[in-house]
Amino acid sequence: MTERRVALVTGASRGIGAAVADRFAREGWDLTISARGADALDERAEALRAHGGRVLTVPADMSDEEAVATLAARHLDEYGRTDALVLNAGMGAMGAFADFPARRFDKLYQVNVRAPFLLAQSLLASMKSTVTKTIGAKVIAISSITGVYPEPNLIAYGSTKAALISMCETFNLEESVNGVSATSICPGYVDTDMSEWTKGDDAIPADEMISGDDVAEIAYSVTRLSRWAVLPQAILTRPGENMHRA
Ligand SMILES: NC(=O)c1ccc[n+]([C@@H]2O[C@H](COP(=O)([O-])OP(=O)(O)OC[C@H]3O[C@@H](n4cnc5c(N)ncnc54)[C@H](OP(=O)(O)O)[C@@H]3O)[C@@H](O)[C@H]2O)c1
Repeated sequence: MTERRVALVTGASRGIGAAVADRFAREGWDLTISARGADALDERAEALRAHGGRVLTVPADMSDEEAVATLAARHLDEYGRTDALVLNAGMGAMGAFADFPARRFDKLYQVNVRAPFLLAQSLLASMKSTVTKTIGAKVIAISSITGVYPEPNLIAYGSTKAALISMCETFNLEESVNGVSATSICPGYVDTDMSEWTKGDDAIPADEMISGDDVAEIAYSVTRLSRWAVLPQAILTRPGENMHRA
């Protein structure tokens, strides 16, 4: 019997992370899911277990280094393997460069960049040991189109997302030869709580945004590539003249 494949998904209690976790569970994967809110996480886990797999929940704030280390340790204790690490938890913040608060800037870097770095580093050995002659392990980082095409008032958010893209590129240069490769997925507006502020008749209708399932489709597809195929980046835009904007 082949071993069941295992993914760790951060920010999996709602939005894109929930859609990704759901997709992997439906495909027969076991999961570790994380977010800050324990109740929402338990609720998600119950729904995911209906697909027949194991689901470990580990509440953790990505700005808390100890919590990030505990998340990695509990995942390894439970499964001892990592086929996919989906670095999805993230926070946004708007504000002009001229007066953007440095403390807020640091917080975005902790959650959006430092935690993904620490998690990928902690799980690298387990990802390497999961690799076979044909199947690789994948790091999938949910970046943003603003990391590729910067926009005004997104100095902190956009630059954290650009950092994630760069981290995936360097990771590939060093580790893809060992069968572990990284992909940054860079979507425009996705219909989730995070994009709530920009929805509406005068703005962008929610049903004309990219869906969480669209992002989940790309994330899952990456795991279907052989270890010999590396996809550094996938940009997902909305139709029309928004091509290079969120
Ligand atoms: N929505 C968009 O338009 C869009 C576009 C491009 C990229 N993205 C990126 O996609 C990712 C997911 O965003 P989303 O739209 O799905 O957002 P969302 O609906 O707000 O969900 C965010 C998820 O991350 C968790 N989370 C937030 N802050 C956290 C923290 N400090 N520590 C641990 N978990 C945390 C949330 O749970 P708790 O609140 O319980 O912690 C939740 O599960 C983010 O990295 C975002 O930057 C979003």
